[in-house]
Amino acid sequence: MNVLSARATATSAAIDTVFNFFSSYRSGVGDGDVRADLTFGNPHEMPLPELVTAIRAGMEPRATDWFAYKTSEEEPRAVVAAALSAELGLPFHPEDIALTKGAFGAIALAFSLLLDPGDECIIPLPGWFCYAAILRAGNAVPVQVPLAEGTFDLDVAAIEAAITPRTRIVVVNTPHNPTGVIYSRERLTELAAMLTRKSAEMGRPIFILSDEPYRRIRFDGAEFTSPAAVYPYTLIDYSYGKILLAPGLRIGYLALSPSMPEADRLAFRAAALTSQIAGGWNFPDAPLQYAVADLERIGIDIGALQGKRDRLHGALTQWGYRMTRPAGTFYLWGRAPGGNSARFTRKLADQGVFVMPGTLFDRPADFRISLTGTEAMIEASLPAFEAAAVG
Ligand SMILES: Cc1ncc(COP(=O)(O)O)c(C=O)c1O
Repeated sequence: MNVLSARATATSAAIDTVFNFFSSYRSGVGDGDVRADLTFGNPHEMPLPELVTAIRAGMEPRATDWFAYKTSEEEPRAVVAAALSAELGLPFHPEDIALTKGAFGAIALAFSLLLDPGDECIIPLPGWFCYAAILRAGNAVPVQVPLAEGTFDLDVAAIEAAITPRTRIVVVNTPHNPTGVIYSRERLTELAAMLTRKSAEMGRPIFILSDEPYRRIRFDGAEFTSPAAVYPYTLIDYSYGKILLAPGLRIGYLALSPSMPEADRLAFRAAALTSQIAGGWNFPDAPLQYAVADLERIGIDIGALQGKRDRLHGALTQWGYRMTRPAGTFYLWGRAPGGNSARFTRKLADQGVFVMPGTLFDRPADFRISLTGTEAMIEASLPAFEAAAVG
């Protein structure tokens, strides 16, 4: 007998491939035999010293209520609104910023604010492997829509074809994990026009959730447009975990597009607070909130990340791999030689090199490399990639 709720079971089923991989990919391998772990977007070097200083300062109490219950505090909200307004060229209101436990918390909040049981949310394929589980946890329904073949651009016609009367949200992840594609303003405008038309047909808005945790991780000066600039019914989620390469510090936010009608924004403001409380006090811990002004100024070396992209992309394509050249994010995405990522990743693992099989993204022929490994790890991985280049 299964004692669990149907939604807990469905949540597990939506993510068990990832957990099976996570719990087993290095089993039986001693640390000394690992040449390069390029699987998850985790840090492999000591944290940024400025980050440690900022957190330490936030830990030092300066008032009796320093560690009192915190919701979305006024000062960090104002800091985020000002920074986001400058970055995106849109006038964000501090009250339209909900501080959350990372992008995970912001995504879960957006889903809880918009989705009733059975409502549908369109997510990209390939795409980040946690959307479906977060949706299932709320009894909502993930609808995977493939990105354009070859370019991984948004396929607006395919999104339109997937819309039903139950569709409430389209998730747009830009820059995109795992392909590194950044969507153009032109494509986003096309999506916005389609959603405006479909929303009118349905008699209520279909929202965009713009999942932007990699927004500041861009290469070659690539431009960025947020869907919030072209579509009023947009919610942005963000995380400091990527730019700081510190995903264990849980802080991010959900921001409402300033062009959303005011009456709707007022409704969201009130409901966000109560949903965050009811959702398990989904606010960042107090020291992180005090540190926001500093966190806004700190970031990893994007030039070094770009160097790692160039090194790996150059070497792999030279050996015949078909790889994307990411415009942003931590990742390199490509076709496994021979078209079987499970076999290919095992071959690399035998050499002490670990990458993610495309099975985790419902794309079993492909694989993902994380650029968060050190330069030394990347150099050490190259002979294994060369040896595995022939399927
Ligand atoms: C596309 C995407 N969205 C959201 C998240 C969640 O980010 P965080 O763990 O910083 O909340 C991730 C993390 O890998 C991601 O890749």
